[in-house]
Amino acid sequence: MRLVLVGPPGAGKGTQAEFIAAHLAVPKISTGDIFRANVSQRTELGIEAKRYMDAGELVPDEITINMVRDRLAEPDAGDGFLLDGFPRTVPQAATLDKMLVDMGTSLDLVLELVVDDDEVIRRLSGRRTCRGCGKIWHVEFDPPTDDAVCDRCGSELFQRDDDKPETIARRLEEYANKTAPLVDYYGAQGKLVGIDATGPVEDVTVRAIDALRSYGG
Ligand code: AP5
Repeated sequence: MRLVLVGPPGAGKGTQAEFIAAHLAVPKISTGDIFRANVSQRTELGIEAKRYMDAGELVPDEITINMVRDRLAEPDAGDGFLLDGFPRTVPQAATLDKMLVDMGTSLDLVLELVVDDDEVIRRLSGRRTCRGCGKIWHVEFDPPTDDAVCDRCGSELFQRDDDKPETIARRLEEYANKTAPLVDYYGAQGKLVGIDATGPVEDVTVRAIDALRSYGG
């Protein structure tokens, strides 16, 4: 299955992507994770992307699209994938459609995680991420035993630089202006399914998997 997860910052895309990708047995491709890996390795791409990420803005389409094109050409994405955080603009979505046509295939489904801004702010301000295995925690909703240590692998937990209140506000603005139009874009293709992404993580996973099952996933 070829699937896209869309939703505002902090909707739970990364959290759900792990379960959904395991359910579908496809690789999870997160543009945010790829950018953050490049930032921590101080690659040219990372240095360029960091300027935008720290400001809560989207990285320019040309940079992002080329990075995704390379990733989708890797063998593990040949039989399906779950895209988390891409596309995020209508030009990215149109280019993805074209890329897939060139590969003789197309997207199956776009799953939208629906949550309001107040919930997003609560979720992002308490998020902690593991430096080792990437597991996403929340100090209130999914707390590790020790706020600084991952219970899964024992590595250090960190707070993302873009989870500061002023950056969160800018990310929400970017979402409303540039990413929310994808709901109409994919709605017009008949590929969009929206699910309520509030409530416990496990309940959201059940809703997501039920939605996929009704489309053969
Ligand atoms: P990216 O990493 O994609 O950030 P985002 O879309 O803003 O999403 P987040 O990762 O912040 O949130 P999420 O929805 O994954 O939520 P999570 O599961 O962590 O992108 C970062 C930056 O990279 C962008 O700002 C941009 O600069 C750049 N970028 C990336 N892709 C790009 C693109 N295509 N084009 C241009 N630029 C791009 O959950 C959040 C918290 O909530 C966690 O603590 C979690 O434990 C908790 N939580 C999750 N579910 C629940 C629940 N049901 N109940 C309670 N708490 C929950």
